[in-house]
Amino acid sequence: MEEKNCRSRGTWTTRIGFIFAAAGSAVGLGNMWKFPYVTGIYGGGAFVLIYLLSVIMIGFPIMVAEFMIGRNTQLSPVGAFTKLGKNRLWKFAGWLGVLSGFIILSYYSVVGGWILDYVIRSVFNQFQNCSVRQIEKMFEVLLESPLRQVGCHAFFIFFVVYVVSGGIARGIERWNKILMPTLFGILLLLLINSLLSPGAREGIKFLFNPDFSKITPSAILVAMGQAFFSLSLGMGAMITYGSYINQDTNIVNSAAEVCFLDTLVALVGGLVIFPIVFSCGLPPSAGPGLFFKTLPVVFSRLPWGSLIAFFFFILVTFAALTSAISLFEVVVSYVIDEKGWNRKKSSYFMGIIIFLVGVPSALSFNLIKNIEIIGKRNVFDSLDFIATNYFLPIGGLLIALFCGWSLSEKVSKDEIRKGGNNLFFYYLWRYIVRYIAPVAVTLVFIQKTGLISF
Ligand code: TRP
Repeated sequence: MEEKNCRSRGTWTTRIGFIFAAAGSAVGLGNMWKFPYVTGIYGGGAFVLIYLLSVIMIGFPIMVAEFMIGRNTQLSPVGAFTKLGKNRLWKFAGWLGVLSGFIILSYYSVVGGWILDYVIRSVFNQFQNCSVRQIEKMFEVLLESPLRQVGCHAFFIFFVVYVVSGGIARGIERWNKILMPTLFGILLLLLINSLLSPGAREGIKFLFNPDFSKITPSAILVAMGQAFFSLSLGMGAMITYGSYINQDTNIVNSAAEVCFLDTLVALVGGLVIFPIVFSCGLPPSAGPGLFFKTLPVVFSRLPWGSLIAFFFFILVTFAALTSAISLFEVVVSYVIDEKGWNRKKSSYFMGIIIFLVGVPSALSFNLIKNIEIIGKRNVFDSLDFIATNYFLPIGGLLIALFCGWSLSEKVSKDEIRKGGNNLFFYYLWRYIVRYIAPVAVTLVFIQKTGLISF
């Protein structure tokens, strides 16, 4: 029975396949789009330093916690919390995760669609010799076009469904093993190009020279929130991927490697973007538009700009795809584990539903732009607001509390010992998930919801 259960759920065939898949989940729009622009807004080096501390002190222990819950139960979040939780209410944490995956994917795929659109534009050399205004206008025209956005959204989600329907080893692992090394290769090429550009020195200085006067409480909290999103924590994506890990894999080392790769890509992403931004004399603090409005301007002025633009947007498409795959796997594995459907049926059915739920997000810049849900936010912004500012921090908090206070010490100790880690690490980890992480996450949460402001 046990064996059949294992086989029908699937496992990673190689450790490196698992690392690529988990790193593929973590490396996404959070690294390439969000990290550079929040770093730009919060002043560079000092922000990067706090970000690194958050990854090591909070992100890494919580990732170990997620892998632990997943591997121990071999179930997706709802089943996992039900099986291990002493109180039935823990199940709620699992549902929250599935709901978050569902919501985040619905609009993440719309952004994925925009990036696909930019890949196509760069193939047709559309950024070359355009003025800043013309390039800004391109993004606005895209947002105003319902059909184009829904089409790109459909295309993006279809690929995600196709990969996930192939299963763990033959779908997710295989595609990550192709996409992730390609992503690293392209990133390296872009890095070399950017370090040779005239703004290289200024870009490096901006990213690595901390100005401690810029460390404000809100920069600290934004850095922590960013670490959560970038590492794919707080909604059970890593629980789900953890549920396919072999018994002899060392989860502590694996989490360390995934955190390292994710951080490396964020930093290299910054090193790719800022030198070229400075070379063209543009401001680093352009905000969310840095990616869609500033970068194409930069590309349009570089020699070989169209080629660089093409590689850059392909890279980001891959990063977004592998992250979307992990979001989708949370939803699909829930349906497989809890409803007993087969993988193909679950993937296509849920894919269609998520596509439909994403349509209003794609329309929220044109046909339904007057509909406001939360505050003055349109549908797209409201979903992002609820999921990242409420669901993920609450989910992260619950996971830390669960591992620190509810999970039996025997289970957590056993999981950390497999693979040969010493008990010193165990006690350090336990202290963090019991005290430090919950307090830190609560602060992020309270600050983000605006109940207190610093
Ligand atoms: N980490 C991804 C990024 O940086 C996004 C992501 C994928 C995510 N899966 C997640 C975020 C789960 C939170 C939870 O873009």
